[in-house]
Amino acid sequence: MILITGATGNLGKATMNSLLNNGISANNIAVLVRNEFKSEEFKSKGIQVRIGDYNDIDALKSAFADVDKLLLISSSSDIKKRFEQHQNVIDAAKETGVSHIVYTSFDMKDLRGSDMAADVQYHADTSYYLKQKGVTYTLLNNTLYADLIPVISGNNILTEGITIPAGNGKTPFLPITEMAEAITVVLTNTGHENKEYVIAAETALSFAEIAEIISQVTGTSVAYNQTDKTSYIKQLVQVGVSQEDAAYLSRFADAIANGEFDTNHSDIGQLLGRSSMPLKDFLRSKYGHNKA
Ligand SMILES: NC(=O)c1ccc[n+]([C@@H]2O[C@H](COP(=O)([O-])OP(=O)(O)OC[C@H]3O[C@@H](n4cnc5c(N)ncnc54)[C@H](OP(=O)(O)O)[C@@H]3O)[C@@H](O)[C@H]2O)c1
Repeated sequence: MILITGATGNLGKATMNSLLNNGISANNIAVLVRNEFKSEEFKSKGIQVRIGDYNDIDALKSAFADVDKLLLISSSSDIKKRFEQHQNVIDAAKETGVSHIVYTSFDMKDLRGSDMAADVQYHADTSYYLKQKGVTYTLLNNTLYADLIPVISGNNILTEGITIPAGNGKTPFLPITEMAEAITVVLTNTGHENKEYVIAAETALSFAEIAEIISQVTGTSVAYNQTDKTSYIKQLVQVGVSQEDAAYLSRFADAIANGEFDTNHSDIGQLLGRSSMPLKDFLRSKYGHNKA
């Protein structure tokens, strides 16, 4: 039995779909859901729903009964508590006899040394904890989702251009669907025990290059506007992002500008047996319908 945590989220859903598309039977898949109201979609597919919150170790122990491989998708709640939540999942999994834990970590040059370490170092702490725990693990160090590009690039980019204080920093953005495919390979094959992979595109691109690609696929000239951090936060708040989340995204923009995601390593070809999807194809699927 494979259990996916964070199954109601973007990466969890994409992984569930990828497992099903790869012929894994629904009755060999379970999901951890913290809110029972969100379980209907899984039940209708024949997937087992286990209820549990990362904060509740007893519920996690019950939820992990009969689970062989567990995909721990990093928490999205309360950054300060995430490491503790992940420890709960790892401890409960080990105690319940889960044989292999796969953790979705994060790919940056130095998680602990980053200016945004307070936002990301829980990944380093979780990875270290998992490695020390004595249970078979695989670490998947995910880069930034390509799916974030429309969220962080500003409003109405086809008319106003891309506006983000990301300088000339390059990022190997990868679509969530491809990350899910790589996770599926690890969950459904042997040979990945106690290994660590970088889940990133083979090519890193700057926002100037992304603007150029969007110009090509839409036939509309899209500028790249450098902006300052304060204006960027204002811009995000204007479209309904909370002040806290806007400040958080601005720290990502800073890290991009500093080249912190440009780690120059990718294991996606090894895992998928092919190159990653060119970002141009992803951007065409997002913006190409706007072609003049
Ligand atoms: N690489 C990147 O670019 C990137 C971008 C954003 C986030 N991330 C990280 O990667 C993770 C997955 O990304 P995503 O886009 O799939 O995130 P997402 O859509 O926000 O999904 C997060 C999932 O975690 C679950 N969750 C949160 N707190 C929990 C708790 N206390 N107990 C049990 N489940 C809990 C959520 O359940 P509910 O549905 O009940 O809320 C949801 O299923 C995020 O959580 C975050 O740590 C990475």
